[in-house]
Amino acid sequence: VALVEWERDLAEVYDETYAAMFEPAVLDPMVDLLLDLAEGGPVLEFAVGTGRVALPLASRGVPVQGLELSRQMADVLGRKPGADAVQVTVGDMCSTQIPGEFTLVYVVANSLMNVTTQEEQVAVFGNASAHLRPGGRFVVEQVVPQLQHVPPGDTARVFTLEQDHVGIETFDDLVAQVAWSHHWMYSKGGLVRHSAPYRYVWPAELVLMAQLAGFHLQSRWGDWHREPFTSASVSQVAVFEKTP
Ligand SMILES: C[S@@+](CC[C@H](N)C(=O)[O-])C[C@H]1O[C@@H](n2cnc3c(N)ncnc32)[C@H](O)[C@@H]1O
Repeated sequence: VALVEWERDLAEVYDETYAAMFEPAVLDPMVDLLLDLAEGGPVLEFAVGTGRVALPLASRGVPVQGLELSRQMADVLGRKPGADAVQVTVGDMCSTQIPGEFTLVYVVANSLMNVTTQEEQVAVFGNASAHLRPGGRFVVEQVVPQLQHVPPGDTARVFTLEQDHVGIETFDDLVAQVAWSHHWMYSKGGLVRHSAPYRYVWPAELVLMAQLAGFHLQSRWGDWHREPFTSASVSQVAVFEKTP
């Protein structure tokens, strides 16, 4: 499956559609924890998008760079106040090398799943490792696959049902672990329709992929408030340390 670039339409509506993810109640605990783990930086965000996390992190005084596949998303970031503090490279988190050595690399908002083969997802871990100093950390925020909510015989479930945003995911390929998410979003008086594949990752598989790239699991929480990660968790914040 080809890499999925977030096109212009989506870049222009991203912040509006995901406004809830820009709320201080969501962002503050993320930025606090990343700041703690950064130990002064410098820090690199894979799939930085429109800078939802990178910009507030940079405003707290830590040097932040971003890597982003979509020039359109990077352009939206570049137009925001404070963007001068976040240098963005347009490239692929599976392979693009940015000069420098970082204390922390992170990929959040399930962006690892935008890479739709297992081999390429392992390459993301390898690329994170290549950017880290020994003992540096790779933080991954990643949903737990919600297949338990799909009744036997069905292939789809509604994951978002709001007035201005309906989202349905279809579990199309259980062997390659590729699902599609389909979005209908109202923005600026019009309807934006977007579908993209993603590759979901089982919790133990995430740890194994990290181990293949020379990491070990340092901590794993159910959210950015450091709640325990349990069988009931729908998401995880996994902290991997590059084994010195
Ligand atoms: C859900 S958005 C997250 C953006 C941002 N990290 C945030 O938390 O708001 C996913 C982003 O991943 C980017 N992306 C997808 N595949 C990528 C790849 N292979 N390398 C770098 N960025 C990628 C998309 O263009 C998009 O901007």
